[in-house]
Amino acid sequence: MKITVPSRLQFLPNMWAAQKSTDASLEGKTCVITGATSGVGLAAVRRIARGGADIVVIARNSEKAEDLRSLLESESGVSIDTVIADLASLDEVRDAAGAILERCPKVHLLINSAGVFSTRRVVTPGGMELAFCVNHLAAFLLTKLLLDRMIASAPARIIQVNSQGHRFGGLRINDVNWERRMYNGYLGYGASKTAQLLTVWELAGILKGTQVTINAMHPGGVKSNIGSNNGPLYRWWSRHVIWHFLKDAKISG
Ligand SMILES: NC(=O)c1ccc[n+]([C@@H]2O[C@H](COP(=O)([O-])OP(=O)(O)OC[C@H]3O[C@@H](n4cnc5c(N)ncnc54)[C@H](OP(=O)(O)O)[C@@H]3O)[C@@H](O)[C@H]2O)c1
Repeated sequence: MKITVPSRLQFLPNMWAAQKSTDASLEGKTCVITGATSGVGLAAVRRIARGGADIVVIARNSEKAEDLRSLLESESGVSIDTVIADLASLDEVRDAAGAILERCPKVHLLINSAGVFSTRRVVTPGGMELAFCVNHLAAFLLTKLLLDRMIASAPARIIQVNSQGHRFGGLRINDVNWERRMYNGYLGYGASKTAQLLTVWELAGILKGTQVTINAMHPGGVKSNIGSNNGPLYRWWSRHVIWHFLKDAKISG
């Protein structure tokens, strides 16, 4: 029996894809990571710490950053540097990049994992729609500001923790802040991930021949904290939406 799901739900069968892992040593490498206090980023940073890399964590919450530092230092014995920045503010992204350029002569690995899903339209103090700002603009700006240092550190690698959320659609280049349409959390999230994916393709072309690679990845369906900012009904509501789309699934064979 074969079940064909609609494109918007392609992330469901992908959840059962085989996991890949590596024991590669990262000694002598410097890794900068966002979103490491939870979920996908936390799993990634624990593995990177086991590999022996020097790690700089960008986090918005200093208490969580300190807890993470203690965890990683006790688990792996590596020393962790932290930079405090709220990625909903592009000024704070610029300051974080400035601090990293001052502290790190080399940057070999950049992982942008920080992300947010909001059922409501939230506007940042800078006037941007929150998901678009955190998921796309902040990741793009940080990447751009660290790019020359990474090229000088090559071989180097950039990972944008993207999503199959780009299948939800929603990107309208003349209304990225959702001022002219009613906001929808899935479409807003999808718009941010689509924009991020488009810039990955663009940067991949620009980086050709530099020995710096950039990839977008979808982590699968991960039981993380994402969406927990939306209140207790969120998980019930998101299941309801999935069932709604699943009615278009086709069963054959
Ligand atoms: N979970 C999934 O099934 C799934 C599927 C596809 C793609 N993804 C993507 O995976 C990435 C990680 O998500 P997750 O599932 O691991 O979610 P998560 O557990 O909620 O982790 C999100 C991380 O981003 C940080 N963050 C959020 N807003 C921030 C801000 N304004 N400034 C600085 N840091 C901020 C959070 O910090 P705090 O700890 O301070 O909140 C946390 O470390 C996201 O890009 C998401 O879109 C997830």
